[in-house]
Amino acid sequence: MTALRTALGEAVTAAFAAEGVAGSNVRVTASDRPDLADFQSNGALAAAKSVGANPRDLAARVAARLAGDPRLASVDVAGPGFINLKMSDATLAARAAEAAADADHAGASVVAVPRKVLIDYAGPNVAKPMHVGHLRSSIIGESLKRLFRFRGDTVWGDAHFGDWGFQMGLLIVAAADEGKADAFLAEGDGPFPADSPVTLEDLERLYPQAAARAKEDPAFRDRARKATAELQAGRPGYRALWAHFVAVSRTALEREFGALGVTFDLWNGESDADPRMAEMIAHLEKTGLLVQDDGARVVHVAGPGETRKKKLADGTVIEAPSPPPLLVISSEGSAMYGTTDLATILDRKIAIGPDLILYVVDERQAEHFEQVFRAARLAGYATDGMLEHLGFGTMNGPDGKPFKTRAGGVLKLHDLITMAVDKARERLREAKLGDDLPPEEFEAIAHKVAVAALKFADLSNARTTSYVFDLDRFMSFEGKTGPYLLYQAVRIKSLLRKAVDQGLIPGAIVVAEPAERDLALTLDAFDPAVADAYDKRMPHLIAEHAYRLAQSFSKFYAACPVLVAPDEATRASRLALSKAALVQLEIALDLLGIETPDRM
Ligand code: ARG
Repeated sequence: MTALRTALGEAVTAAFAAEGVAGSNVRVTASDRPDLADFQSNGALAAAKSVGANPRDLAARVAARLAGDPRLASVDVAGPGFINLKMSDATLAARAAEAAADADHAGASVVAVPRKVLIDYAGPNVAKPMHVGHLRSSIIGESLKRLFRFRGDTVWGDAHFGDWGFQMGLLIVAAADEGKADAFLAEGDGPFPADSPVTLEDLERLYPQAAARAKEDPAFRDRARKATAELQAGRPGYRALWAHFVAVSRTALEREFGALGVTFDLWNGESDADPRMAEMIAHLEKTGLLVQDDGARVVHVAGPGETRKKKLADGTVIEAPSPPPLLVISSEGSAMYGTTDLATILDRKIAIGPDLILYVVDERQAEHFEQVFRAARLAGYATDGMLEHLGFGTMNGPDGKPFKTRAGGVLKLHDLITMAVDKARERLREAKLGDDLPPEEFEAIAHKVAVAALKFADLSNARTTSYVFDLDRFMSFEGKTGPYLLYQAVRIKSLLRKAVDQGLIPGAIVVAEPAERDLALTLDAFDPAVADAYDKRMPHLIAEHAYRLAQSFSKFYAACPVLVAPDEATRASRLALSKAALVQLEIALDLLGIETPDRM
């Protein structure tokens, strides 16, 4: 099943080739003038020179070759050499019928060669509250996971839990200082208590206190560093205490992610790469990659001549390697953020053997990933193109800085969801939606509306851009918002229920009215949108399609009565079109991680 746009692209490319323009694909795009044509090709403008022709003449010759194509109602040349293509009604109807019959993919194709893809996203840290960067990563990563799976790849979503760094040492000494860790401080093998000595509230209190204290109190900081190194070296009591921190944090995080409709196949932490560490260090030593640097051990990743100016503490400016070397072992002997990332690549290679690893992490970590990826390629752990950092912009407050709460703190995911659900309830009541439903169902709907609002607001922006958090706008039932799309989906569901009540069944699709044509063309555009979103790793292209589909359906519904259409065949056709629109809309929303209620 090929999308019309794609099929026409092939036909147009062949016609150009027959006119002596060989080689690259000629693109066909949706028409700029939908009143005149469905698709257009501007290929003649670029190609004319290569065959020494005038663009309009070349376009006319190509158009003449296409004129016999039974799928086309008309082929015209306009302006300096645009080729305008209009599909026959029958072709549009046949394509809409294909989409309608495809319950799983709604007309979208899958990849020819499925790959093993691991997506590293969310990246929450033990005890540290999640910030908006984690929120965006969770939303974008979840969508990409669904998209890659939908296209046929085998996909693992991995939370890559931050459980191995300095913050663990901080927590250990902070818990010890509060007398909460007494049973875990003995040097021996244990046994140690099976119950956690700390609650989530303890962790949320201890961590910020300890982090602040470490900034002012060098002795405290040194103890925390030492504890980190001892934990990583395997001190049993510390490991046991750490395991409780991890479990308590993870339980809370899983609940919060669950509320957001974000799930992971793997909850591996940075610590899970620890068993590979010895092998990795030995390999880096053997290959001569690991070198001494001021008491620490690093891997140089910049090539010859890759430098940038760097100001030293004494004010002198030097040409320093760029990207800087990857710090593998700190002077205290600890594994660093880059170390666990590198060892995790080795671990994933052995455990899964992925063809592709996507890291959905804040753009501000771009240099970190450049260092890690280069080191991984130098070490032979990764091939070119196997590792990709998918950066993203920030979610900002009205002041243009990364979003914070009124009190100036990071917004907790739990509080954000609560806030969004409160607003959703308010909006539903204002719009008099769901007021006749039982309270539990109303609550479930408010939750879905809230999540749809947050996710759609995020995913309707290109991943790389920043956007301003504006809950009022996100939650509106009008405009390009999650709630608008849910509302449109629910309207179609209610239409389909009424049809069932009246004993109507969907039948053969006939396309005649302009609004029917438009809807059929929109249904056809799903496949290229999905393929593009996949190739570029850009979920907003799906969000855009979903919005366009909802609008196209809305116009169709206004112009083409369904239940009271003049004759039975028209009713059956329009019902089938409505159903296809719903199936595709729900799939598109699902690819964004958004669930549709049955009614509201
Ligand atoms: N835990 C990290 C942070 O909070 C994000 C982890 C991203 N993934 C990775 N493989 N480094 O910044």
